[in-house]
Amino acid sequence: MVLYNIGLASNYAGLLFDGNCVTCHHKTKAISAPSIKEVKENYLRAFPNKDDFVLYMSNWVHAPNEETSIMQNAILKYGLMPMLSYDKKTLEEISAYIYDMKFD
Ligand code: HEC
Repeated sequence: MVLYNIGLASNYAGLLFDGNCVTCHHKTKAISAPSIKEVKENYLRAFPNKDDFVLYMSNWVHAPNEETSIMQNAILKYGLMPMLSYDKKTLEEISAYIYDMKFD
């Protein structure tokens, strides 16, 4: 049985994002972590291409690492993001969702 078509998969990524990333990353305001808008802006500058963006972000969130961070100032300000227990596939979907969404 096919559980997800593309529309449902992206909706699912949106639910995961709202349920799990927004706790720390407000959409537009920096609270206990930089806003997702700010994270996205930094990633877009470094990785304008969607495939590169999704690959780098999903790998990084899978294993947050100071050396490979592209937001060194955020680490100084908030401390390194904790590791979350998500599989790579889910993180790729969430990263693609972040690439596609507008956060205003
Ligand atoms: C417990 C709080 C917390 C949660 C939950 C969280 N983050 Fe973070 N995240 C942070 C903090 C703090 C930073 C800034 C410091 C850093 O970059 O490590 C950060 C930074 C980031 C960065 C920038 C990485 C870099 O290059 O430094 C990305 C991308 C990111 N988060 C994505 C996500 C995604 C996607 C989720 C949901 C799956 C998520 N975060 C959930 C706290 C959190």
